[in-house]
Amino acid sequence: MTRPGLHTLTGGRGLLFGGDYNPEQWPEHVWAEDAELMRAAGVNLVTVGVFSWARIEPEPGARDFAWLDRVLDLMDESGIAVDLATPTASPPPWLGHRRPETLPVDESGHRLWYGSRNQFCPSSPVYREHALALVEDLATRYAGHPALALWHVGNEYGQVCHCDESAEAFRTWLKARYGDLDALNEAWGTTFWSQRYGDWAEVVTPRRAPYIINPSQQLDWRRFCSDALLDHFRAERDLLRRHTPDIPVTTNFMGLFKPVDAWSWAREEDVVSNDHYPDPADPLAPARTALTHDLMRGLAGGGPWLLMEQAASAVNWRPHNPPKPPGRLRLESLQAVARGADGLCYFQWRASRFGAERFHSAMLPHAGPDTRLHAEIRAHGRELRELARVAGRPVPARVAMVFDWPSWWALEERGRPSDRLNAVEQLFSYYLPFWERGVTVDLVPPSADLTGYALVVVPNLFLVSDADAGAMTAYVHGGGVLVVGPFSGIVDPRAHVRTGRFPAPLRAVLGASGEEWQPVEGPVRCRWAGGAEFDAHTWTELVAAEGAETVAAFAGDGRPAVLRHRAGEGVAWYVATMPEPDALGELAERALADAGVDGILPEPRHGVEAVRRGEILFLLNHGTETVRVPLPRPATDLLTGSAADGHVVLAPRAVAALVEPSPQTPPPGDDIEITL
Ligand code: GAL
Ligand code: ZN
Repeated sequence: MTRPGLHTLTGGRGLLFGGDYNPEQWPEHVWAEDAELMRAAGVNLVTVGVFSWARIEPEPGARDFAWLDRVLDLMDESGIAVDLATPTASPPPWLGHRRPETLPVDESGHRLWYGSRNQFCPSSPVYREHALALVEDLATRYAGHPALALWHVGNEYGQVCHCDESAEAFRTWLKARYGDLDALNEAWGTTFWSQRYGDWAEVVTPRRAPYIINPSQQLDWRRFCSDALLDHFRAERDLLRRHTPDIPVTTNFMGLFKPVDAWSWAREEDVVSNDHYPDPADPLAPARTALTHDLMRGLAGGGPWLLMEQAASAVNWRPHNPPKPPGRLRLESLQAVARGADGLCYFQWRASRFGAERFHSAMLPHAGPDTRLHAEIRAHGRELRELARVAGRPVPARVAMVFDWPSWWALEERGRPSDRLNAVEQLFSYYLPFWERGVTVDLVPPSADLTGYALVVVPNLFLVSDADAGAMTAYVHGGGVLVVGPFSGIVDPRAHVRTGRFPAPLRAVLGASGEEWQPVEGPVRCRWAGGAEFDAHTWTELVAAEGAETVAAFAGDGRPAVLRHRAGEGVAWYVATMPEPDALGELAERALADAGVDGILPEPRHGVEAVRRGEILFLLNHGTETVRVPLPRPATDLLTGSAADGHVVLAPRAVAALVEPSPQTPPPGDDIEITL
């Protein structure tokens, strides 16, 4: 049977619009007003019940579903679909009080208590038993309810626990991975510092220790933590699927969030959804957001995904929280649409009066519906209806960027040449120049089939398997263009250094190899062959060309800094340092030229975003100045209905969704040329 997906919801509804709805915080007379205001705002999906465990099960074994029945009935009468949450992210105090072993323990052995949220041990059988009993009853009760459209399992998985039960579960996981202790000792390199394990009972989680902990143990621990949570997610999911095979199941990610390996999770859900809260103080936030959205699309296998949570205005959990200025709510939401989102939801519908998030913005603020914020929400809801045709449309990309969780985990362990290496920042530094040129990038795991891409960029892949390195080599030989950043291909999947000149498994395809890592303090001058100079920072390598041409060299001693190698039908680039942004832009342009890929924007223009979704060209102005974007062909802006003949003028925070009125759809890759 084919699984239901986001199309199950968008078919007939168009783009989804709504938010977390927590009616348990309000007397019932408020609910009727909520429903009326939701309808007026064009809301068609609400997430209900995320934190309602204590309301449904006020004491062990009790069930109070009557209120939830009324909420779902009300939503159904109002024509609003429900994304029903399993409320297992926040157990009630009675569980921790009666069964303290369900509470998580930190690496120092301290228990974390109730009074906030997320206080559960992923490996606690007692927690699991209580959670599943509740989920079973929830699924039984609401299977067949006409409002039920999506299941939302838990919330933002990321819990970690070091208790004895977690240690036992870790051992079980390790036994399945290694079979016996000899293999474990070998994989963890326990001859180092006298760490040999003679009995499984000695193996514990990486609890607080006097000095640096074994990096291979840490890596397996991170793998285990992600898997343990995934195991719990699956247990809930399987139960839900048994009761409601036609209702898709999701859980909300948090973008590039270290604790869970999103590639392994996404395979297990029907809908990929994400919570995203850009930092208003970060001038690069629009590009970081684009990267996160592209990751979601990648996790969804190129299909649509759901923006489960965003803020209507300010959050309350950063130290200082300015509101979103008028227009930003719309701009950020449409950015997600442009990059593949078919649903635009918020945390939350109505602002809470009490609790830890009473100063977090909402679609309906404390001041009520007659506010500029709520007016923006209504206008946005209306406008999304005009964009219904976007739902399900693909976002084509010819460039892929590789990102991997185990490699991230392994890279950032203590005791390395420089703790300034940061996997996400490295990824972002390579992503930025593509974004600024309007080149759409797919995020992919290292095991992805790369053959459909003209260019594959690997900003950092510290840990690589033989198989993945082999596939990258074959990709180049088959005609692909590959760009590899520094300190890649260094360790194997056990985090053991691959000996010989680096990057050992990619040496042949790169036509270059190195012998020494040389982190640096200040900037390092580099020079393009026969051309301009640029600065690099943080990191250099002592590398020799072995068939590759030196495209840029360190100005001091002429050693290679950037190399380019023809291998088979393709081209492989190696970057042995961390070039400044402009130089990465130059590198991106050269690699794009090798791959024959053009950006939508002919010149980098920071703050102007251009991305094509289906037949629509989205142009978004994240900057503070009005921009004039000439168009070679007339187009109509779907958002304003106005014809754009010759050019589009975009004020700060403005968006255009352009369709060419021509009856012929352009062939793929035939981008509109725009001169700025
Ligand atoms: C998310 C969470 C929501 C709410 C929101 C506030 O992390 O899922 O429940 O806390 O942040 O920004
Ligand atoms: Zn535990």
